[in-house]
Amino acid sequence: MAAENQKLWGGRFRESEDELMERFNNNFKETLWLIEPDIIGSLAHVKMQVKCGLLTKEEGDIITDGLNGILADVKSGALKTEGDYEDVHTFVEINLTNRVGEVGKKLHTARSRNDQVNTDMKLYVRSETKYVISLIDNMLATLKKVADENPYIMPGYTHLQRAQVVTFKHYLMAYHGMFTRDRQRLVNALSTMDQSPLGCGALAGTTHMIDREFTAKELGFSKVYDNFLDGVSDRDYQLEVMSDFAIIMAHLSRMSEELILWGSQEFKFITLDDKYTTGSSIMPQKKNSDGAELIRGKSGRVFGDLFALLTVIKGTPLAYNKDLQEDKECFYDSLRTVIFCLTIMERMIATIKVHKDVMRKAVSKGFLNATEVADYLVKKGIAFRDAHGIVGSIVIYCEDNEKAIEELSLDELKKFSDVFDESIYDFIDYDNILKKGIKKEML
Ligand code: ARG
Repeated sequence: MAAENQKLWGGRFRESEDELMERFNNNFKETLWLIEPDIIGSLAHVKMQVKCGLLTKEEGDIITDGLNGILADVKSGALKTEGDYEDVHTFVEINLTNRVGEVGKKLHTARSRNDQVNTDMKLYVRSETKYVISLIDNMLATLKKVADENPYIMPGYTHLQRAQVVTFKHYLMAYHGMFTRDRQRLVNALSTMDQSPLGCGALAGTTHMIDREFTAKELGFSKVYDNFLDGVSDRDYQLEVMSDFAIIMAHLSRMSEELILWGSQEFKFITLDDKYTTGSSIMPQKKNSDGAELIRGKSGRVFGDLFALLTVIKGTPLAYNKDLQEDKECFYDSLRTVIFCLTIMERMIATIKVHKDVMRKAVSKGFLNATEVADYLVKKGIAFRDAHGIVGSIVIYCEDNEKAIEELSLDELKKFSDVFDESIYDFIDYDNILKKGIKKEML
C-alpha cells in the first residue's frame, strides 16, 4: 500500500474503502493551505504533551523537529504535496512517522482530528481575516486619496434620476464609509472567535490531564471553549466572517455597477485604466469594464458560499459530522474571491480618470437646483410645502420653454412668487450651492 493510502483509522475495518468512496471522502488536495496551520497547531500540542508528562522532553524534541522539517520541506518543495492522502492531518502524521519513526505515533495522544481540524481552521480564518483587513485599509487609503484629489461637482441621483449636486469626492467617501464598517465587522469577528478548540477531543474532552489553557495561549487565543461539544462543532466564526465577506462583495458590486455606468458613453464621467478593461474580438472600438463586471458577477459566488455553509450547519446534530468537512472549500472560495475583488477594485480606483468637465456639464441639465430654489423661498418666509408647489410649477414652465431655472428672467420668476429678487441667481448657482449650510462637508 502506498504510504498515502494508509488510514489513521484502519484497525476495525475488514474491507478496504471503495475507490470512489475514497475519492469522495478525501479532501487533501483541496486543502493544502491547511498544512501550515495544522503543523502550528501540532507544535503547540506537542509542547503541552511534554509539559503535562504525556511525552518525555526527548520525544517532544524529536516530534517538534520532525514537524518543523515537514513544514520547511513543504515550503521548499522538497516534500511533494501529492498523493491520495485522506486529509492534511493524515499527510502530516504519516510523513512525521516516516521521518522520525515510532515516536511520531504519539503525537495524536489526547486529541482528535475533530478538535484538530477546527483549530487549524480557526488559525487560518484568523490570519486571513487579518489579511483582508489590511486590504480594506489599502482600499480606504486609496478612496480617501482619490476623493481628496477630486472635490469636483457632479450630479447626484435618486432613482437614477438627476437629483441634487454633490461632489465626486463625496460620492467616493460614501464607499469609504461602507468599507470602514466592513473593517469593523471583521475586527468584531476576530474578537468573537477568540476561543481555542484544541483539547475538546472528538466531542468529550479526554481522560488525560491536559492543559487546554496552555495550548490556547501558545496559539494566541485568550480563552478555551467552555463546552467540548461546542468546541468541535462551532463553525459560527466562519459563518460570521463569510457574512462579512458577503457584505463586502455587495458593496464592491454596487461600486462596480456605478463604475460601469459612469464609464459608459451615456455618462462618460470616468474612464477606467486600460489595465482593467478588455476589448472585443469583433468590434475594434470596444473597451469593456471587465474588471468591474467580474467583481459584480463574483458577488453571487460569495453569497452562495455563505448559503452553502449555512445549509451544512443547519441540519447537523452535535458534535462532529462529516458534513462539516464541507466548510473548507466554501470558506476558501469565498476568501479567495474577496481578496481578488478587493485588490482589483483598489487598483481600478487608484488609476481612475475623472472627467470633471463632463460631470460639470451634466449638472446644468435636470433642474438639480430646484430644491435650493425651494430653500430660497423658505428663507423668504414661505412654508416649505408651498415653496415645493411653486417650484414644481416653475419646472413645468422651464420644460415647456426649454430653459433651466437660472436662465429665467426675474420677471418670469416673479410670475410664480413676488418674493424673488436678484439674489436668487447667486443662491442657486451650482458652485455656490455647495458652499451653503452643511453642504460644505461635500467639498
Ligand atoms: N478531514 C476532516 C475535515 O476536514 C477532518 C476531521 C475528520 N474527522 C472525522 N471524524 N472523520 O473535517
